[in-house]
Amino acid sequence: MKLLYIQASPNKEKSSSRQVANYLVSKLNVASSKILDLEAHPLPHINSMAISAFFTPPETHSPEQKVAIKLSDEKVDELLSSDIVVISTPMWNFGVPSVLKAWFDHISRAGKTFKYTSEGLKGLLEGKKVFVVVSSGSVFSEGPFASMDQLGPWIRTTFNFLGVSDLEIIRVEGTNTFEAAATAIAKAKARVDQLVLNQTLKEESHA
Ligand SMILES: Cc1cc2nc3c(=O)[nH]c(=O)nc-3n(C[C@H](O)[C@H](O)[C@H](O)COP(=O)(O)O)c2cc1C
Repeated sequence: MKLLYIQASPNKEKSSSRQVANYLVSKLNVASSKILDLEAHPLPHINSMAISAFFTPPETHSPEQKVAIKLSDEKVDELLSSDIVVISTPMWNFGVPSVLKAWFDHISRAGKTFKYTSEGLKGLLEGKKVFVVVSSGSVFSEGPFASMDQLGPWIRTTFNFLGVSDLEIIRVEGTNTFEAAATAIAKAKARVDQLVLNQTLKEESHA
């Protein structure tokens, strides 16, 4: 099993989403892992040259288009060659931080991660397992803020579109609130333990 681990928080080791995702990664049984730290290596926004390269055959690419598409090709290859994807991210303004949105813009590629068929659009990432660890200042799993969560539904829709149906969201929530902050990380780690146990049982039943 190959793991791709994407880190979107700029808070490095202090990041609560990274702390819980690191815990998750330490429990996963993988042969190799690739870490993509978006604070250390942010991706540029997709520009007009990259878009023109996406929609023209590689053999006709100009030198400028070749440069513009190189990073996207690299990120797509990293994703396609992985079996498990772990994303750790804070919630920013009810959604994902723009560094993570940029990653999605680079990997959502017609002909590579989804395709047009006579039956409509088809995602090409089937069979991958995705874990998303989301840290947020407020609580979104229940209560008055629940309907304001644009991150969970967006990330699930986007991965579903790309063919991923096996996706778990782990919330580290209420980090800015008096009541929930003290237990947010412990609760999220307990959820990780449960998910890892379920995954192990599933693998054993298929063995
Ligand atoms: C620019 C910015 C925007 C934020 N927007 C939200 C938000 O919309 N909702 C929320 O609950 N918390 C918001 N927060 C708080 C973070 O989500 C929270 O502190 C989170 O625990 C940070 O995760 P990290 O430690 O992994 O970086 C925001 C923080 C920053 C810096």
